[in-house]
Amino acid sequence: MATRTQDASEFVPDTRELSRLRSAAATCRGCGLYRDATQTVFGDGPGNARVLMVGEQPGDYEDRAGEPFVGPAGRLLDRALAESAIDREQVYVTNAVKHFKFVRAERGKQRIHKKPSRTEIVACRPWLLAELDATRPELVVFLGATAAQALLGSSFRVTRERGNLLDLPERPAKALATVHPSSVLRAPDRQAAYADFVADLRVAATALEPAKP
Ligand code: URA
Ligand code: SF4
Repeated sequence: MATRTQDASEFVPDTRELSRLRSAAATCRGCGLYRDATQTVFGDGPGNARVLMVGEQPGDYEDRAGEPFVGPAGRLLDRALAESAIDREQVYVTNAVKHFKFVRAERGKQRIHKKPSRTEIVACRPWLLAELDATRPELVVFLGATAAQALLGSSFRVTRERGNLLDLPERPAKALATVHPSSVLRAPDRQAAYADFVADLRVAATALEPAKP
């Protein structure tokens, strides 16, 4: 008998209601990351969002708060959205992986972000697909390589494709990949990195028709 790879699919209810998806995700055990994290951090935003933005995974702040993009990266994202004429109220934000993955610092209690593995990204993908089906956005923005590779394949290169408006495979939406806001915070030339990030989001904004019916 072939061994079945464990993933989130058996935990994902057959529904397009975000509230039902969210409550089911709270008890997901589709991979091992639920064990050490505080809680599932599901996506957040309106069910009729025009834009879905995908990050990598919740960070330390998000893990405690139970909401995506509430820490420094989230604040940078909010500021960049305001500057790129994407209405934050019409954005649903989520992550490729819904539990915080970390290692403990040798001394002290600090939890240090650890990149999720390909297996964990694939295991968590059913939630992301369910969020896409629930919100049916016009545009999906991938923040960083982990997010982009979750839906566009592991050979996708953000360095090569950033800022290009693409068609999202298998769904009637546009897509655009850019860097992760945390990388802007870490960049040696932060101002330049921020300007490039905003420029990418401005390209993304051109994919939005004036109004959603
Ligand atoms: N970084 C992410 O990728 N997602 C968050 O929710 C916060 C920081
Ligand atoms: Fe489930 Fe995703 Fe959390 Fe893994 S990371 S337990 S697949 S919600």
